[in-house]
Amino acid sequence: MNKFFLNLGSQPLANNYLNKFNPKQIKYNLRLYFDTKTKLVSISKRIPSKKMFNNKYPYKSSMSKTMQKSFYNLSVEIKKKFNPNLLLEIGSNDGALIKNFDKNKVIGVEPCSNLAKITKKKGFKIYDEYWDFNLSKKIKKQFNKVDLIYSANTLTHISNLNDVFRSVKNLLSEDGVLIIEDPSLLECIKKSSYDQFYNEHIYVFSALSVRNLMNKFDFEIFDIKNLSTHGGSLRYYIKRKTNKKFKIKSSVKLQIKNEIKFKLNKIVAYNKFSVSAKKSKNELINIFNNLKSSNKKIIGYGATAKATTILNFCALDHDFIDYFVDTTPDKANKYMPGKKIKILKYNKKFLNNVDYIFLGAWNFQKEIFKKEKDFIKRGGKFITHVPIPRII
Ligand code: TMP
Repeated sequence: MNKFFLNLGSQPLANNYLNKFNPKQIKYNLRLYFDTKTKLVSISKRIPSKKMFNNKYPYKSSMSKTMQKSFYNLSVEIKKKFNPNLLLEIGSNDGALIKNFDKNKVIGVEPCSNLAKITKKKGFKIYDEYWDFNLSKKIKKQFNKVDLIYSANTLTHISNLNDVFRSVKNLLSEDGVLIIEDPSLLECIKKSSYDQFYNEHIYVFSALSVRNLMNKFDFEIFDIKNLSTHGGSLRYYIKRKTNKKFKIKSSVKLQIKNEIKFKLNKIVAYNKFSVSAKKSKNELINIFNNLKSSNKKIIGYGATAKATTILNFCALDHDFIDYFVDTTPDKANKYMPGKKIKILKYNKKFLNNVDYIFLGAWNFQKEIFKKEKDFIKRGGKFITHVPIPRII
C-alpha cells in the first residue's frame, strides 16, 4: 500500500532552465509516497519522459572532477574484476564513464540527443533512444549478449521499473553483471536532504527496495558499496540467482541491517523525515532572513536540480539570492526553474563582493571549497542545508 508522507509543494521541471523568466512556468505537485509492500519510495506525479529527457537536456556528468574521478575508478575496477567483452551503459550522458573503455567494447544508451551527439562524434556506438524492451531486443539482434550492464543516476528516472529490468534480463548474458548506482535513501533520510526529490527522480532507492525488485526478476544483489558521490550513493552489484560465479558479500546484509535499524522498512521513518524536512525549511528561511536584514550579498553556487526543489519548497527568490554561478554551458544566462534568479557562467569575478554563497551543489562541497580558497580566505562564508541548515 502506498502511503503519503511529504508534500514538497508546486515544483517546475527541475532541469527546465528558461531563457526568459516566466512566472507562469508549468509546475507540478511534488508529493512523496512509501510503498509498505515493496519498500519503494516514489513521487506521485509521472511526467512523460519526452518532456524531461530530450535534445535540450542541460546536465553533463563531466562537469565535476569528483564524478570524472569516480567513473574512472569504476572503469579500472570493472576491467580488473569483470573484464567484460561488451559493456552497455544505460544513460551514458556525455560519456564520462564510457570514455574510459575501448570503443569496440562499449555501447551507450542516451535518449537526450544533444548528449548522445557528443559521444557519437567521438566514435562510440550510441543508441539515442529510451531504454525499453524493444531497444533491448534491437541491441540483442545486433550484439547477441552483453556481459556487463551499468547505469548511474538513470533508472530512478524511469517510471516503469518492470520494463527496465525485463529488458536488462533479456540482454544480459547468463553470467553477466548488472551494476546500478543511485542516491542512497538512507543517506537522504540521515541528512534530511529532501532535495534529492524532484520530478525527474521518480524513485530514491534503498537496498531494501532494490532487493525486492531484483527478486521479481530472479536477480540478487551480491555486493553493495557506499559512495560519497551525489550526497551519498549506493552502488549495487547484481547477478542472476543461477550465476554462482560471485559470492554474496557481507556488505549486502550490513546495508540491509543498517536500513532496518533506521526503520526504512516502516512508514515511521518517512513521517519523521517529513517533520525534519519542514524544520529544515524553516531554519533555512531564518538564516536567509537574518542575513538579508543585515544587507548581506548572497549568491548560489551550482544551479542544480536539487536547488530547484529547495528554492521552490522554501520560496526563496531573487530578493534573497542575487544570482547563481554554474560551470555548465547550457545553464548559462538562463533562470533557475520557477524563480527569477539568473544563472551566470562561472567566473571567479562573480564571487567579488559576495558575503555568502548558498551551496546548490552541496554534494560537491569538498571540490568547491578547494576551488574557492580565496573566497574563504577573505572571510566569505557558505550556507548549506545539509545535514542541518547552517553557515560554514
Ligand atoms: P549535480 O549536483 O546535480 O550533479 O549538479 C552539479 C551542478 O553544479 C552542475 O550544474 C555543475 C555545477 N558545478 C559548478 O558549477 N562548479 C563546480 O565546481 C562543481 C563541482 C559543479
